[in-house]
Amino acid sequence: MRPLMALQNTRFLDACLRRPVDRLPVWMMRQAGRYQASYRAVRGQVGFLELCRSPELIAKVTCAPIDEFGFDAAILFSDILVHLPAMGLDLSFEKGEKGKGDGGPKIANPVRTRSDVEALKVPDPARDLGYVLEGVKAINAGLAGRVPLIGFVGGPFTVASYAVEGGSQGFTRLKTLLYADPTAAHALFEKLTQAAIVQIQAQISAGCHAAQIFESWLGELDREDLEEFSFPYLARIAQAVKQAGVPCIFFGTGLSGHLARIAQLGFDVVSVDWRIPIDDARRIAPGVAIQGNLDSTVLLGPVEKAISKSLGICRAAGPAPGYIFNLGHGIQVGTPEANVKAVVDAVHAFTWK
Ligand code: CP3
Repeated sequence: MRPLMALQNTRFLDACLRRPVDRLPVWMMRQAGRYQASYRAVRGQVGFLELCRSPELIAKVTCAPIDEFGFDAAILFSDILVHLPAMGLDLSFEKGEKGKGDGGPKIANPVRTRSDVEALKVPDPARDLGYVLEGVKAINAGLAGRVPLIGFVGGPFTVASYAVEGGSQGFTRLKTLLYADPTAAHALFEKLTQAAIVQIQAQISAGCHAAQIFESWLGELDREDLEEFSFPYLARIAQAVKQAGVPCIFFGTGLSGHLARIAQLGFDVVSVDWRIPIDDARRIAPGVAIQGNLDSTVLLGPVEKAISKSLGICRAAGPAPGYIFNLGHGIQVGTPEANVKAVVDAVHAFTWK
């Protein structure tokens, strides 16, 4: 384990390791984003990728939710796709439909054939992603030990879905590749696994205290395909993080039916969505910490409902160590900041006494 002496708040890391805590730790996926006025002000000045490439701005937007809402962990501001240009893919973020304001990722030269896969380069984080590593150092300077910092990478299947489809366009091409050319699919997952491992190791070396693997769309696969095309790669990533000496969180959606199996892959924490009651998740996977699982839509309001549902989850999670309050997926655009603050305060006030 990385020495924690310098951290003032270790609730989140203690819960990851299923150690007792004074209060339930809380953080939220996409806690830095467009629901915040402070984030929108930054994005009014720079494009999304420009923001991801500025260590100074990375530090600013990562620290803002800690200052504004009192979360127990910070998460590196970056994206699961930032390394794709270094792999040879032409990535941009589109502005989105007029008036809607949400930009999606676009890859101009998606991976379609075996030779496309062979042409992909595994990035060298020190050379290609220095701005992320500088960002980690700048964040820790800004946090000054107030809370730990979570680093992250995308899981191979989720990153492959963007690389193969060319954007957020479903999963048909990727799934067809698995069945039509499993050798090419394995070669693609192998490259993306290596890319994930070198990136997360570099983030940890630069100062991240924990790691989360975002495998948002893995619930697309059935059990047979998960066993063949995903779990062996995820187990390698979990093992690499373990060797680097920090807790590792797995995040996915639509995977409730596979929770017991996922809990065996070597992760310290499994993050679950709202499709499973949190007490069921705790019972099914007693050997890992559980993170989740408020439906982020609830945060849109009314605030009384957001608070009561959050406290219901805290109660259902039970008093045993190893529970981290979070959402089932990221905060939605348009979420009132006051609702986020109210839920953080309510979770912190929750006790078993
Ligand atoms: O959680 C955090 O606060 C850290 C930052 C973070 C971002 N993306 C910032 C972001 C993290 C951890 C991610 C991970 C990510 N990126 C995932 C996995 C998590 C999930 O939500 O499922 C995925 C699938 C991506 C790919 C991606 N990035 C998409 C599909 C989009 C467009 C959709 C959208 O929400 O706009 C992005 C853009 C993106 N990544 C934004 C942010 C804050 C919005 C960009 C903007 O400012 O306009």
